[in-house]
Order: sequence, then structure tokens, then C-alpha cells
Amino acid sequence: MEPSAPVTDPNQEVMASASGSGFRVAVVGATGAVGSVVLELLAQRGFQAREVVPFASERSAGRRLDGPALPALSAELRSLMPETIEGFDLALFSAGSDVSGEWAPRFADAGAVVIDHSSRWRMEPDVPLVVSEVNPHDLDAHRGIVANPNCSTMQMVVALKPLHDEAGIERVVVSTYQSTSGTGVRAVEEMKAQSHALLHELEPDPPSVYPHRIAFNVLPQVETFKDGDDYTTEERKMINETRKIMGEETLRISPTCVRVPVVCGHSESINLQTRDDLSPERCREVLAAAPGVTVLDDPDAGRYPLAIDAAGRDDVLVGRIRRDPSNERTLNLWVVGDNLRKGAALNAVQVAELMAERGLIRPAARTAA
Ligand SMILES: NC(=O)c1ccc[n+]([C@@H]2O[C@H](COP(=O)([O-])OP(=O)(O)OC[C@H]3O[C@@H](n4cnc5c(N)ncnc54)[C@H](OP(=O)(O)O)[C@@H]3O)[C@@H](O)[C@H]2O)c1
Repeated sequence: MEPSAPVTDPNQEVMASASGSGFRVAVVGATGAVGSVVLELLAQRGFQAREVVPFASERSAGRRLDGPALPALSAELRSLMPETIEGFDLALFSAGSDVSGEWAPRFADAGAVVIDHSSRWRMEPDVPLVVSEVNPHDLDAHRGIVANPNCSTMQMVVALKPLHDEAGIERVVVSTYQSTSGTGVRAVEEMKAQSHALLHELEPDPPSVYPHRIAFNVLPQVETFKDGDDYTTEERKMINETRKIMGEETLRISPTCVRVPVVCGHSESINLQTRDDLSPERCREVLAAAPGVTVLDDPDAGRYPLAIDAAGRDDVLVGRIRRDPSNERTLNLWVVGDNLRKGAALNAVQVAELMAERGLIRPAARTAA
């Protein structure tokens, strides 16, 4: 599907729907890195909402939200309670796995479709794990909860899918360079505070979000080494989620996930072996025609994807497309995306738009609280 075009006045359609038509939407985790972009995108894309209710933790309940100008938005943050979650058509969750584990089924039982950013439901067999450009057909099988993939997986599959359709991908070796906003608001604050201290020749506070200092450093660990595994949970997600989204249970994927001191935008070096030969020229053509992808590939002129250029953009940027001189039928690519947009909030809103278009969201009783 083509995403609905942004309206000239971003709030125009929301204003129109605030009067009575449209969906009643809960945004859970509205104060977070992802939730604040969800609110921004609902406004910018004119999502058909008659009311948008922001939820956060009990710490924030009652506080006014300094969010985007979204007329359908209730100003006051609510906490999750049995009486506050009734009467929603749609709930966009970005409050972590524990909150999703407990509250997503409750919203679904109360009649809402839940689109969840956490890893809690992604690998459940009856939960579709959907990237809007890659496997929108999987939404038909939803049973109340739809999962949004991990950010590094998301931007990778947007680029891989059209190449898989063209030449058949046999093996992927990927190294990520992931930004701190991928860990949330506190991680960005930690990096900035450490950088400020170091630039003023002061000793930074000990790290509390990451296991080591992130400022002026590179960490070859994203998330945890669970149960003695020598791959991190993030790396396992890249393997398992990519296979599920692409419907290729045995696809060979070898990931190394790395955290870098960047505010927003994940970068990935991808080495791709295909079944059929794929020239760099044909690869560029296929990607240039693919939805959600922009090719930026003129290295001589210094044109290639940069995290600072991807931040705030919807498309996944691809460049440095070249043959691997060490292996046949293999290309190298550099893929960069905004982890808070296509890597998270944008995909969730695109999935909501698709579900609304296809009648997969049931309007709750108009009289509901
Ligand atoms: N950041 C990314 O690039 C990205 C990408 C894909 C997926 N995700 C996933 O999205 C989720 C959120 O990530 P984030 O980066 O946005 O984190 P974040 O910046 O730390 O925000 C967390 C949000 O959850 C809220 N929250 C915490 N406990 C809650 C509770 N008991 N009830 C209701 N709300 C609660 C927080 O509210 P308070 O302000 O009140 O604490 C805040 O709004 C995570 O599962 C993450 O893995 C993130």
C-alpha cells in the first residue's frame, strides 16, 4: 500500500475526526522515545482518530503531555487500570515487554486491536509480525495483537525483501551500528551527560543504562547475553524475526549488533549472498523501485546514507552497493534508517492505517468512556 499522503495541515483530518467519526486510540508509553513519535505521526499522517488517549506509568499519571498539536489528544496522561482501558478500538503500545505482557491482552479482550512495539509477542505463532512493505497479508490472521519488529530487523527487511524476490537471498551477514535512542529516552540522556562531562574534562557518572561508557566509545553488545548464549538477545531477534517476517524459516543470517554514540538512526553493513547473480546496477534499480527505500549511492561525490540524514526521514536509505570481491553472487550494502520512525513508530502507524483500510479494526461502542 502507498502510505496516505501527508496532509498540508497535519491536523486537518484529525480535527475533522475529533468531532465524532474515527477510532478511539490509546497510546501506551506516550512519554517515551517511540510513543512521542507515534503521537507526532498520528497527527502528521491524519490518522482517523476521534480521540487519542495517552498512557504512561503511574509516575506520570495526571501530568499534562507536552506533545504535538493533536486536537483529538486528551491532554492528561493516564495510568493503566481496568477502568481506564475500556472502549478503545486501537492501542499502540511502546512501554516495554512487561507492560505489554500484562496489558496488551486486556486491551484486546476489551475489544481493541493492539499493535505492540515490544518483543513480548513477536514470536508467538498466532501473532502476526508485520512490516507494512513486506508481509501486510499476515495481518488477516490477527487475533487482537499484532507485533512490530525490532528496529534493526525492520530496516534490514525493507531492503532485503525486494532483493529476495529478485534473486533469492541465501545468506546474510550483518553488522549493526545502533543509536542510543534505540534504547529509549534515558540512554540518550546518559550519552549526552557523559559527553558533556568528558568535553569539560570531568569524570562522568558511572553508566546506568549500558554496561560501559557509551560516549566516545563503541559497544559490541546490544541487549544481553541470556543464559550463557554467545549471541545477544538483539542478535537472536535479528535471526528469528527476519525469518518469520520473510516466511523463510531456514534463511542463514549471521548478525553482530553494536551500539554507537549516535542519537538517532541505525546503520547496518549487510553482506548478501544470492541464489541468482545480482549485479550492483540491477540491485540499485530494484531498490529504487521498492516501497519505503531511497537509494543514495554516489560514493565518489560523497553521497551515501548517513545516520544524521536518515533521522526524521521515513524511508530506509541504501548505498555503498558493490560486489564482494571474496565471494561469488555476493553484494555489500550500507543500510540506514530512523529507528524511531520506520524502525518503530512509523511502521506501527502504517500497520494501523492498513488495518483500518481493510476493516480489521472493529469500532468500539461509541458510548464507551
Ligand atoms: N527506541 C526504539 O528505537 C525502539 C524501536 C523498536 C521497539 N522499541 C520498543 O518500544 C518499547 C519502548 O521503547 P522506548 O525506546 O520508547 O522506551 P522509553 O523511552 O524508555 O519509554 C518507555 C515508555 O513506557 C512508559 N511506561 C513505563 N512503565 C509503564 C507502565 N507500568 N505503564 C504504562 N506506561 C509505562 C514510560 O512512561 P513514564 O514516562 O511515565 O516512565 C514511557 O512512556 C520497548 O519495548 C522497546 O523495546 C523501541
